[in-house]
Amino acid sequence: MEEKQEALENQSGEEQIKKGVRIIQALRGMKDILPADQKYWKLVFDKVVALASHYGFERYETPVLEEASLFNRSIGKDTDIVEKEMYIFEDLDGTKVALRPEATASLARAYIQHGLWNQPQPIKAWYWGPMFRHERPQSGRYRNFYQFGFEILGEAAPIADVIIILLAYNFYHELGVPVSIQINSIGCVECRAKYVEELTQYFRGQRSHLCEFCKKRLQRNPMRLLDCKEEQCQPVKQNAPQILDSLCDPCREHFMAVLEYLDELGLPYFLNHSLVRGLDYYTRTVFEIYAAGEEGASQAALGGGGRYDLLVSTLGGRPTPACGFAHGVERAASKIREAGRVLPLDEKKDVFIAQLGEQARRKAVVLFENCRKAGIKVAENFYKNGLRPQLEAADKLQVPYALIIGQKEVQDGTVIIRDMESGNQEIVDINKAVGEVKKKLFLS
Ligand code: HAM
Repeated sequence: MEEKQEALENQSGEEQIKKGVRIIQALRGMKDILPADQKYWKLVFDKVVALASHYGFERYETPVLEEASLFNRSIGKDTDIVEKEMYIFEDLDGTKVALRPEATASLARAYIQHGLWNQPQPIKAWYWGPMFRHERPQSGRYRNFYQFGFEILGEAAPIADVIIILLAYNFYHELGVPVSIQINSIGCVECRAKYVEELTQYFRGQRSHLCEFCKKRLQRNPMRLLDCKEEQCQPVKQNAPQILDSLCDPCREHFMAVLEYLDELGLPYFLNHSLVRGLDYYTRTVFEIYAAGEEGASQAALGGGGRYDLLVSTLGGRPTPACGFAHGVERAASKIREAGRVLPLDEKKDVFIAQLGEQARRKAVVLFENCRKAGIKVAENFYKNGLRPQLEAADKLQVPYALIIGQKEVQDGTVIIRDMESGNQEIVDINKAVGEVKKKLFLS
């Protein structure tokens, strides 16, 4: 289905013109989520809700549209997202607004705006919704995608990082998708400044071996060079100084404590010295979740997050240590599908209402409503006329009973109750049909 949609997206406008009417497609990188996918999305959503409830997180919704400066100030102006991927435009009143590329900044804004620091800390929040990034679309990468995320605001202790990592891991683990955790610490403002200086010096010495993109990035965001996937940069990266050697004592202790907890819990993690993440607000712990065996692939992270102790104060709030993660819903749904997860069966129906002719359909729709109101799970196909296809549909749904109304039944004011297993039929007064069915189904 994904391939079909991608093929359509790639058609030229001319190919799409049929009988002089241009057929409008969804925008590039934006996709419709049809029922076949929704089944997997529901699995994702139900798991998120269950985890949120077990771990005591409450749901927050923030607007899709925010003042653009919220993201410039939080994600950072030298990041890919802010530099080239945001959907920014002027609102009708002249405000510069942006479709949110992520929701952590919005959560931090809401934390300040609603004085959530006055409530018992930490605030444990989860969210689910659409995000927008004008990236180059490819498999698993869209311009309009969904994320769900968990955030803990107002807690500095390593256990908060651990709960966040545990949630991110458990989501996949419990849905039967083997994943691993890549983890690093990028220190605090102080120890990172020293490291960045050392790193810049190192990369300057290697400038001639770097790709063109890294040469440009070296001025503005040298840590992002560690993230480069270009072949020619790999040997340079391998010998680069490692941030773990530069961490100050409190940052080192924090990171060690996080790792000890992970060991205690037996979670599969890998130290990744080049993991820096693409958003500027992180401090200390950063991590990403990968499908087992896909750790090296670019753009393959199923989710990621970390600590962002300065974000709330950067946005004007009081100092508030915090951490969180987000997973992409499309990537989650497709991984679950690949893992061959068996979908839960559709809800079983109790009866099928079949009708023959227009008069019968009128009676049937009323009976359908009466059954539904009485708590009977009822199926129908009002769009078919023949009895045979309707009974075949009833068979397929494996309902125990079919209620049949034909022309004779309309005249007599009756309905046929057919036992689908034995084929036995009985005729009952249409006004008593609901009661009779309830008796047969042992519904009180
Ligand atoms: P992020 O790494 O930018 O982090 O995005 C998290 C996840 O969202 C990715 O791992 C991926 O699954 C999904 N994602 C991102 N971009 C796309 C795209 N273009 N198409 C499909 N899926 C995508 C954040 O957004 C942070 N707010 C996470 C966080 C929460 N950090 C702390 N709290």
